[in-house]
Amino acid sequence: MNTPEVLECLATEPLNVDGRLLAASNATLRCSTDSDVLCVYKPQRGERPLWDFPSGTLTGREIAAYQIDSALGFGLIPPTVWRDEGPAGPGMCQLWVTEDDDARLVDVVSPDAVPEGWISVLSASDGAGHPVVLVHADHERLAQMAVLDAVLNNGDRKGGHVITDSLGGIWGVDHGVALSVEPKLRTVLWGWAGADLPDDSINRLVSLRERIDSGFVELEPWLSGAEIDALRDRVHTLIESGEFPVPNDDWPAIPWPVF
Ligand SMILES: Nc1ncnc2c1ncn2[C@@H]1O[C@H](COP(=O)(O)OP(=O)(O)O)[C@@H](O)[C@H]1O
Ligand SMILES: [Mg+2]
Repeated sequence: MNTPEVLECLATEPLNVDGRLLAASNATLRCSTDSDVLCVYKPQRGERPLWDFPSGTLTGREIAAYQIDSALGFGLIPPTVWRDEGPAGPGMCQLWVTEDDDARLVDVVSPDAVPEGWISVLSASDGAGHPVVLVHADHERLAQMAVLDAVLNNGDRKGGHVITDSLGGIWGVDHGVALSVEPKLRTVLWGWAGADLPDDSINRLVSLRERIDSGFVELEPWLSGAEIDALRDRVHTLIESGEFPVPNDDWPAIPWPVF
């Protein structure tokens, strides 16, 4: 199935609930469609309220994030649609990507076990007091994800929100805590902080800025005018600086737990 076909299935076929994801903090259900497309369905009314985001907006932010990733052309977020009538009411529905646990690109390891060519992001100690490091691969797709997260102002890029599938495809999931007006970038992907952005990313950012300036109407149901303005400002700042962002002292830079 190509992406438009997947989007069509996710948007129109009945969703059969297979189970609930226990690792999730919101009501997150694993479903299948009648043509056996697996997906994640998050009903809007299952959102856990947060102090720093307006209630009931997280599932819609996931749609906005998908639209922005598509506009950038990265294709890092699995196809994501809105369902007015899901089994537990309105909510978001996203293609399930099956993780290959042996192909993880983010990890916590002992300092003498950092895989060759990987980047260390943070040193810490584990529960027993042994030193550990948070590491990620030096991979082009992860660098693109770091650009996407800077654009989305993603507040929750945990290791578990980076998925490698069995074909080596790399995906980002869980973009509900994103697109705030306030700076909230919190991520495990700091390996390129302050480095020059790749030219390819700058070109994509320039196209995205044009898209926003000419009216990115697909975002309007999900984001406030101020949030769309803040998105435009972040894209502009990235283009002007030409660099990956660096951690901000006023905000915890690493999500906790990291997975
Ligand atoms: N599209 C997806 N494909 C595969 N696994 C997913 C997908 N979306 C979420 N997951 C898995 O389910 C877990 C919980 O989902 P998540 O989106 O993080 O929910 P929550 O918003 O409650 O934190 C994720 O950490 C990830 O392991
Ligand atoms: Mg999550």
